[in-house]
Amino acid sequence: MTPSVATARAGSNIAFVKYWGNLNHELRIPMNNSLSMTLDQAYTTTTVTFSNDYAQDSLHLNGSPAGEAATQRAADHLAILRQLAGRQEKAKIVSKNSFPTGAGIASSASGFAALTVAAAGALGLDLPQQTLSRLARRGSGSASRSIDGGFVEWVQGSSDESSYARPLAPADHWDLVDVIAIISTGHKHVGSTGGHAAASSSPFFQARLGELATTLPQVREALLQRDLPRFGELIEAEAISLHVMAMTSKPGILYWQPGSLEVVHALYEWRRTGEAIGYFTFDAGPNVHIITEQKYAAAVVERLRAMPSVLDVLKCDVGGPARLIDSHLE
Ligand code: PMV
Repeated sequence: MTPSVATARAGSNIAFVKYWGNLNHELRIPMNNSLSMTLDQAYTTTTVTFSNDYAQDSLHLNGSPAGEAATQRAADHLAILRQLAGRQEKAKIVSKNSFPTGAGIASSASGFAALTVAAAGALGLDLPQQTLSRLARRGSGSASRSIDGGFVEWVQGSSDESSYARPLAPADHWDLVDVIAIISTGHKHVGSTGGHAAASSSPFFQARLGELATTLPQVREALLQRDLPRFGELIEAEAISLHVMAMTSKPGILYWQPGSLEVVHALYEWRRTGEAIGYFTFDAGPNVHIITEQKYAAAVVERLRAMPSVLDVLKCDVGGPARLIDSHLE
């Protein structure tokens, strides 16, 4: 039998209202809705080949064989898709990130979105976006938001069927830019899976969920109205709220580095003087994501590049949906 092969490309995403904590860990059903924008310049390309010739699933990441834990996580994900297709063959996965290896940019969102779309393609499954989002969610929660392009909302739901992301506005709705200041390329001590598990041990966990009932609709509205100052104020508070929860969970997790705070203070100053306008947010890591409009992006990039604590700067515009492409990775 000829092998079944497909390749997909998916952009990462930056969340404005973030996912932190699960209702159901195994199914990755979150404690709250989250909102994000898909990124164009930070993407993963993945080729999946299913064949009876393979004795086990394998994963090549950025040119080298992946470690045992990453390979197992990808294999577990393929098992879900194989079951759906009623197929048995093992697979070879070859995956590459567009951003520099080890740049400290979270790749699980783009990685599991690309893996889901490529594996579904190779297995001949023609699935609607909603189903692809649900499947991607099983690999990494934030991956559910990388199936669609533009601005996306992941609806919490309460079951596997009802927890998926849906488009909120198309990519051309707002020319937002995510200027990523890379502060550290080191590996995190606690990954997001551990962070979600610890989240509910923070005394601020319930307070944050209560607050989101008010702030999430406000963020959504500011986004739909393209109101940058309002939007910026809300997303900064939301990022701080997530990190306070991480810091106060058991065990406590401090993702910020001194350089992260240097950038935040510099940004406050640029805003005060009107030199450069932008608003920060953070993923589960030390890198600062500065959200701004296209007209301010060059000034932000230039100033970040001049800061000794910033190792690199990556500018991402709003990206499109995950999709199958014709050229396969070897
Ligand atoms: O999808 P995960 O398990 O990598 O979690 C993502 C967590 C945050 O990046 C901090 C927030 C988010 O919603 O993307």
